[in-house]
Amino acid sequence: MTEQRGNWTSSAGFILAATGSAIGLGNLWKFPFITWENDGGAFVLVYLVCIAAVGLPIMMAELLIGRRTQKSVVGALKEAVGPAWGIVGLWGVLCGFTLLSYYTVIAGWSLFFFGKTAGWMVGGFPEGTSLGEVFTEQSANGGLQLGLSLAFSIATVSVVYFGVQKGIEKIARLFLPILFAILTLLFVTSFAMSGSGEALAFIFRPSFGELDGGSVLEALGHSFFTLSLGMGAMITYGSYISREQSIVKASAVIVVLDTVIALVATVIMFTVIFTAGMQDQVSETGTVGMLFISLPQLFFAEGIVPGGTFLAPLFYVLVALAALTSTMSLLEVVASFVIDEYGVGRHKATLACGGTVFVFTILAALSFGGASFATNLSVPGPIGDLFFAGKTSWFGMADHFVSNWMLPTGGLAITIAAGWFMTRDASESELVDETTPGWFNYGAWRLFIRFLAPAAIATIIIAVIFFGVDFS
Ligand code: PFF
Repeated sequence: MTEQRGNWTSSAGFILAATGSAIGLGNLWKFPFITWENDGGAFVLVYLVCIAAVGLPIMMAELLIGRRTQKSVVGALKEAVGPAWGIVGLWGVLCGFTLLSYYTVIAGWSLFFFGKTAGWMVGGFPEGTSLGEVFTEQSANGGLQLGLSLAFSIATVSVVYFGVQKGIEKIARLFLPILFAILTLLFVTSFAMSGSGEALAFIFRPSFGELDGGSVLEALGHSFFTLSLGMGAMITYGSYISREQSIVKASAVIVVLDTVIALVATVIMFTVIFTAGMQDQVSETGTVGMLFISLPQLFFAEGIVPGGTFLAPLFYVLVALAALTSTMSLLEVVASFVIDEYGVGRHKATLACGGTVFVFTILAALSFGGASFATNLSVPGPIGDLFFAGKTSWFGMADHFVSNWMLPTGGLAITIAAGWFMTRDASESELVDETTPGWFNYGAWRLFIRFLAPAAIATIIIAVIFFGVDFS
């Protein structure tokens, strides 16, 4: 059985694949905007504390459960903790399914803006174009949205179809270095712009007066999303790790890379925005606006981004690559569950899962005006208020439910499983061996996973229920 599942061919291959899962739209689309909304500095600091104190220990917990059992999320939790825990695994599979159903839509926008900016690079930027209108028109065009998200879904299925080594690892090995190179180029360019000092000060100079309880919870909620935790993606990837690899070391590398990339992306975006003095527009157009309205416009505005016309399409290649290395991990969670639990072959399982997810992607793709039934979809009454905060559309409801309910509850269950239900011997033998780096202290990890992480997550859940805090 173990041989048939396949393993990563090397530790670098695994680290690239897991880092690729972590680095995604969360880093490029969500993090810069929530940093903006929460006034930078102090929020970034709190986020870093959440990543280190909650994210890192849970990353280790998920990977160790995966490697110990060599099973995908449902089987892994059943074997590591007990048969009843299969339900937590199913919750994770459902979460992966739901997240994938709308993630591909935003990923599709990156394809659209790649096409647009490449066209402008060659043919020139048409005078007087309103990027706000370009964005609204494309997102409300149902046929276009279906086409873009279908293209992205096919790309995702094509990778997972070929399995862990020949699909996921190969693509991660190829795309992650390209992604790092594009980001480095943009980062270096940003220092030639006049707004870079202001951007750095905004991001790194803490002013605690601006911080409230909601910001702290938002930072914590986002640390799950950005590290792909709380739904078993890292349990699944962990199930393909060999015994020679240090889980502690790998977790640290993944967490650091994800964090550095989020910060670098934020520096780049804010530099462009400050250089152009576009702060007001960014605040008005929301999360989507920063990535798909303000930036494309600024790349083509004169005298702001050196070589902007060339960098613009490259930037959307970056977004698309980051998204693809995340969507493939989401589909892997769902497909590996079907493969392991029902004995279905990988090819058939991948096609069936990808196809079923796409049925819901149709709803997400039509959520922006493409079709009124999808755009206006809602759950009325107190249930709708509690679980979906009154959001409408499949996209809005799914994003809210995943970020505010599924990931925090799944994450809480995983900390309890690893901290309270697995024996000390079981977790210690996975984390501590001759490959473990000297800085790691098992006793401290156990303290974090048993007390600090669950307390922090429980706080999020209470905040969502009683105070209506929204992380989506
Ligand atoms: N970490 C991804 C991001 O930051 O965009 C989102 C994600 C991917 C979450 C895969 C969960 C997951 F399993």
